[in-house]
Amino acid sequence: MAVLNILNYPDPRLHKIAAEVKKISSMHRKLIHDMAETMYKAPGIGLAATQVDFHERIIVIDVSENKDNLLVLVNPEIIDKSGVQICEEGCLSVPGIYEKVKRAEWIKFKALDVDGNSYVKEATGLLAVCVQHEMDHLLGKVFVEYLSPLKRNRIKNKIVKQKKQRTIL
Ligand code: NI
Repeated sequence: MAVLNILNYPDPRLHKIAAEVKKISSMHRKLIHDMAETMYKAPGIGLAATQVDFHERIIVIDVSENKDNLLVLVNPEIIDKSGVQICEEGCLSVPGIYEKVKRAEWIKFKALDVDGNSYVKEATGLLAVCVQHEMDHLLGKVFVEYLSPLKRNRIKNKIVKQKKQRTIL
């Protein structure tokens, strides 16, 4: 297992659109393990393959308190949704930034697990937010893109500045 490098906004590779996984191979299984390890280490509650510069539709999520309930979503698809919730979101690719984003309150989605078995699951609250946030990554969308251009530019500048400071130190 290995901890992978997470791309930081505004890296253009975060805007690539992920392709369907045709067949889950041993390479995909290794990637899923590495993504989980990377997410737990960060620490975060969700990670999309796009964020580790792999552009196929794979997500790992764990919103459990004890970090012992890994959810793997391969080729996820939202089949129903309702309601509205506004949650303050952060993202491993946009460190230090938290902003309110409007999402569906309830979703029903289908996906494949790590063994390629298809499942359907319903989610509300944090898990629903997380699935929607990670699915956006697979479409090349980062959550700050829901904000006004002015606010987004401020965030971009802040991140570039943080990076520069890191280099100096
Ligand atoms: Ni994210």
